[in-house]
Amino acid sequence: MRERAVRHVKGVLLAGGTGSRLHPLTRITNKHLLPIYDRPMISYAVEALVTAGIGEIMVVTGGTHAGEFLRLLSNGEEHGVGRLCYAYQDRPGGIAEALGLAERFVGDDPVLVMLADNLFGRSIRPTVKAFAAEPHGARIVLAPVTEPEHLRHLGVPELGADGRVVRIVEKPEIPPSSYCVTGVYCYDPSVFSVISTLVPSGRGELEITDVNNHYVASGTMAYDVLDGFWGDAGESIDAYYAVNDFVRRHGVNRG
Ligand code: DAU
Repeated sequence: MRERAVRHVKGVLLAGGTGSRLHPLTRITNKHLLPIYDRPMISYAVEALVTAGIGEIMVVTGGTHAGEFLRLLSNGEEHGVGRLCYAYQDRPGGIAEALGLAERFVGDDPVLVMLADNLFGRSIRPTVKAFAAEPHGARIVLAPVTEPEHLRHLGVPELGADGRVVRIVEKPEIPPSSYCVTGVYCYDPSVFSVISTLVPSGRGELEITDVNNHYVASGTMAYDVLDGFWGDAGESIDAYYAVNDFVRRHGVNRG
């Protein structure tokens, strides 16, 4: 029963944006095509969804190198994807805007969204299964992060005494907890009506944190705490190499 439900969760991989924190490397290619150990970065994100039991995936990308994703991933068979679709984001208008392009692809199904520059040591399958079993509202994955300087570059949840998320602050000056919100988000199909109400943030983007705070406010935000390695390879050149080192030594998406 649960296995069947996992197959009904659609996957959306976000691989657009400017990759400005990895300039000049990303002046000549898309960040998600840069190598991580022996494969382009996007391959690990596809593998994360496939090993989680997701068979239908949409890759959202943009910019001048979108065609390379087709050359690499083709129709998905070689990567174990049953159905692979693509969407093109005209300009980097934010993570939530990129997700909005997948509305027709997702239809009435639950969706798992993943930022394609995020890599996980352990499979994200438990999170997908938990959401598939109760596909209402939203579910996110938190990772423990101890350095405040690191947290200032991420989305950070404030947790109440009962452990529930009270709010999420994007790139906080003073981090309200020692956890970050990783780039894996599960939503029911109401997410597209939430996106349609968003207004651009100070940096001109539709923010995924605003989407998440909608579910926090309506009391339908669940979360898992990550067990094992997590890295955002797009955060800085040092983070990119730290992720490379980890993948070379240990691999990722392990069951
Ligand atoms: O990595 C986790 C963090 O990711 C979270 O803690 C933050 O809450 C979340 O906002 C996000 O922060 P970043 O600053 O890392 O987001 P970034 O702009 O780097 O975009 C992340 C991914 O989303 C990246 O792989 C490309 C994709 N993207 C981004 C934008 C702005 C798109 O596909 N389209 C876009 O317009």
